Amino acid sequence: MAISVSFKDPNFGKGLLGKEDQTSIPLFEYNYPKSMKVLIATEKPFAAAAVKAMEEIITAAGIEVVKLEKYTEKKQLLEAVAEVDGIIIRSDIVDAEVLDAAKNLKIVVRAGAGYDNIDLAAATAHNVVAMNTPGQNANAVAELVFGMLLFQCRNQFSGAAGTELLGKTLGLHAFGNVARNVARVALGFGMKVYAYDPFLTKEQIESMLGVTAVASIPELYGTCQYVSLHCPATKETIGSINYDLLKTMPKGACLINTARKEVIDEAGVMQLMDERPDFKYIADVKPSTADQFVEKFGTRVFFTPKKSGAQTAEANSNAGIAAAKQSVGFLKEGIDRFRVN
Ligand code: 3PG
Repeated sequence: MAISVSFKDPNFGKGLLGKEDQTSIPLFEYNYPKSMKVLIATEKPFAAAAVKAMEEIITAAGIEVVKLEKYTEKKQLLEAVAEVDGIIIRSDIVDAEVLDAAKNLKIVVRAGAGYDNIDLAAATAHNVVAMNTPGQNANAVAELVFGMLLFQCRNQFSGAAGTELLGKTLGLHAFGNVARNVARVALGFGMKVYAYDPFLTKEQIESMLGVTAVASIPELYGTCQYVSLHCPATKETIGSINYDLLKTMPKGACLINTARKEVIDEAGVMQLMDERPDFKYIADVKPSTADQFVEKFGTRVFFTPKKSGAQTAEANSNAGIAAAKQSVGFLKEGIDRFRVN
């Protein structure tokens, strides 16, 4: 970016060093280059250490950091985006209205895996690059799967005899970064691990020693006592985890959802749980009808009070730092690795 300088004094150059006018001082009017800005917009903020590291990366590149944390209204976000070149978000919604308000915006980075909170078509129409940071919080989510699973298998620590994971069947619905971490831990528990992913071949899935690929979604649910969801919310998956699918699960079934609540057909799960007292449902992405579930099924369900999958110091740092580096890489050098639109 050029610095433009205009010389306002018509005597400039004549008298500054000359004898005739020792007092002639040039008047400069600088149009300094505006520094670029990256907004960290997190309704649920990153851990302080992660934010500090992100700020260091961004400012070291000569880019200003603006922060909007714990905001409560969309209008705060609309105001904050007005002049920024980049935005880093978590589950914050970036829709056409936000993009309209962000006249200088060039990039939005979702510090996390799922980017269903970004309107990709609108981003493309606004000439804005969208990225995620795949894998960065995967282990944190996987560990939470087991935190919830053990809690549920031990009857929420009520003291009543529960069940063990050793030798049980676990189905992974989609086999991305989170599911691979779940598989690693599950194999350590001695579980039998099955996986289905429409985008991967049997060979690709089974390249992870100990994991068996199944050919279809119905086969996965028909085989596994425990099924852990790791698919994104897309038009194919939304509402797809339904009564017909779940009713085929073996006795003592438990559905674990750390993915997106939208993939569940909540009425269908409720009907099934009415009919099958052995069926349990645990989630880090609370269903919209969570209160009804708790009222009807008590301790057969468990929902984290707040979405906690990516809430570890490590995951915050990994995802936040990756997002900061990707923002800088794109704004300074046009690097668009991990672009999703
Ligand atoms: C993800 O998609 O990475 C997770 O859902 C984490 O979401 P969060 O950043 O809102 O915790």
